Amino acid sequence: MNENESGNEEDLSSQELAVLRFLQENEQKGMIPEQEIVLTDYGTQIVRSAVSWLIKKGFVDEESTEETIYELGEEGKKSLKEGLPEALVYNYTLQKGQVSIEELNSVIPPEIVKIGITQLAKLGVRPSGGNFKIENGEDIETELQRRLQCLNSVAEGKYPGKDCLETFRKRGNMIVERRYQKRKLRINPEGRQILLRSSEGAIGQLTPEMISSGAWKSARFRKYDLNMAGENVSGSFLHPLSYLREEVSRIFLDMGFSEMRGHFIEYSGWNMDALFIPQDHPAREMQDTFYIETDREPEFEDPEILPILKKVHERGIRGYTGWGYKWSESEAKKLLLRTHTTVSTIRNLYHIGKAPAAVFSIDRVFRHESVDWKHLAELHQIEGAYYAEDANLSTLKWLMEEFYSRLGFSKIRLVPSYYPYTEPSMDVVVEIDGKEVELGGSGIFRPEVLKPLGLDEPAIAWGMGLERLAMIYYDLNDIRGIYQSDINWLKSFRLRI
Ligand code: PHE
Repeated sequence: MNENESGNEEDLSSQELAVLRFLQENEQKGMIPEQEIVLTDYGTQIVRSAVSWLIKKGFVDEESTEETIYELGEEGKKSLKEGLPEALVYNYTLQKGQVSIEELNSVIPPEIVKIGITQLAKLGVRPSGGNFKIENGEDIETELQRRLQCLNSVAEGKYPGKDCLETFRKRGNMIVERRYQKRKLRINPEGRQILLRSSEGAIGQLTPEMISSGAWKSARFRKYDLNMAGENVSGSFLHPLSYLREEVSRIFLDMGFSEMRGHFIEYSGWNMDALFIPQDHPAREMQDTFYIETDREPEFEDPEILPILKKVHERGIRGYTGWGYKWSESEAKKLLLRTHTTVSTIRNLYHIGKAPAAVFSIDRVFRHESVDWKHLAELHQIEGAYYAEDANLSTLKWLMEEFYSRLGFSKIRLVPSYYPYTEPSMDVVVEIDGKEVELGGSGIFRPEVLKPLGLDEPAIAWGMGLERLAMIYYDLNDIRGIYQSDINWLKSFRLRI
C-alpha cells in the first residue's frame, strides 16, 4: 500500500519525510540528482515515488532534463547474434562467387534475404539476370564492419554516433531511442516549513542544557495537539503490598505493640545459635541460606553472649541437656542474610531486657529458595512477640485469635508443630471459603533461648509471610504476581492509606 495515496499536503508519509530530510541535510550541495538520494530504510522505487509526491505537494523544486538513450531493438539483437542480413547475403555470395536468388532463399530465410538484397543494392551490389555477384568487395566489407561495430556499441550502452544512428534510423527495430526525465531536486521554503512543523524526530522535551546553550533557538520542537483526548491521569497510591503492610502494622500498634528494627545482614550466632538452632541443623546449609563472604572473621556485635551460647549448645542449662556437640565460635560469627525476623525478636528482647515487652516487625528476609508460585527468595515476614509474666499457652491462643480476627480471619485453629526455638510450637490454620490454609507459626520460646540471655519471663512469638497473606487478600494464585508490577493489576487496587 502506498501511504501517499491517502495523504494530504499537511501530513507527509514517513518516506516523504525521510526524503525531505535528506534534501535538507544536503541542501548546500545545490540541486541533487534523484539517484543520489540514498536512504537506508527505503529502496529506489519508494524514493522515486516519494520524490514525485513531494514535487506534487510543492515541498521540493525540480529541475528536469530529458535524457535520450539508445538500445538495441529486437532486430538489432538478432543481427548482432546471427549477423546482419546484408552480411549474411554478402558472405554467402562471396563464398560461391555467384548465386541465384532462389539458391539464397533456400539457405537463408527469405525475409532476411530480402532485407539483405535491399541493403546491398544501396551499396551498389545489384543482381543481374536473377544472379548475384560480388565485385569491388573491399568497400562493402568495410561498411559491414562499421555497421556491426555500431550495433556493438549500442549493445554496450555507449552513444554510437550520429552516422551510426542515421544508418539504422529507417530500419525497423534495429536501434530504439528512449527518452526519460532526469530529475534534480532541492527542498524549497515550503518544504523547510513542513519539516519544522512535522513532529517526527522533533524534540519533545526542552532540557536545561538546551536553554543554557541556546540550542533551543534552532531546535525543531514537537507540535502538541491540544484537542487530542488524553488518558485519565490517576494520582499516586500505595502498592497493594505496602497497603497491607500498613494495615498489619496498624493492627499491632492498636494492640499496644511497638515496632522493632533489625538488619538484613545478621550473624549466624543471632539468626541461629541464639535461637538454639544447632550448628549442624539442615536450615544452616548453603542451599537454604545466603551467607556473606568476608575477608576476615567478623567481630561479633555482642561478644558477651558467645561463651553463653557455647555453654547452652554444648551442655544446656539447668534442667535441660543442650545438644551435646562441640560448638564452634567462628560458625556463630559468620554473616548471612537473615532468614527470619525471629532474629530481630531475640536480639531486641535481649537488649530490652526486662518484661513486659510487646514488639513487632514487618520486614524483609531472604531464603535460598527456588522461586515458584508459592515461594519467593526475598519476602517479608510479619513477626510479633510478647514477653511477660503471663505469656503462656492460653495467652498465645487468645493473642492469635485476636490478631488473626483483626486481619479478618474469624475462624482459626492451632495445630501442634515444631520450631527449634519454641516449645510448644503451634501453627495457625485459618479457614478460607471452607478450606483450611496454614498461614503462620507460633510458640513459646524455649528456656534454652531465653534464660541464657537473662530473660527470666516467658515469651510468646509468632510469624507469617506478608506475601502469603497478600495472596489471600488480593486473591492471587501466583505469589510472583505481587512483584510483577502489572499496571492494570496495580490500578485495580487503588487503595487509600
Ligand atoms: N520464624 C518462623 C518462620 O520463619 C515463624 C515463627 C516465628 C515460628 C515465631 C514460631 C515463633 O517461619
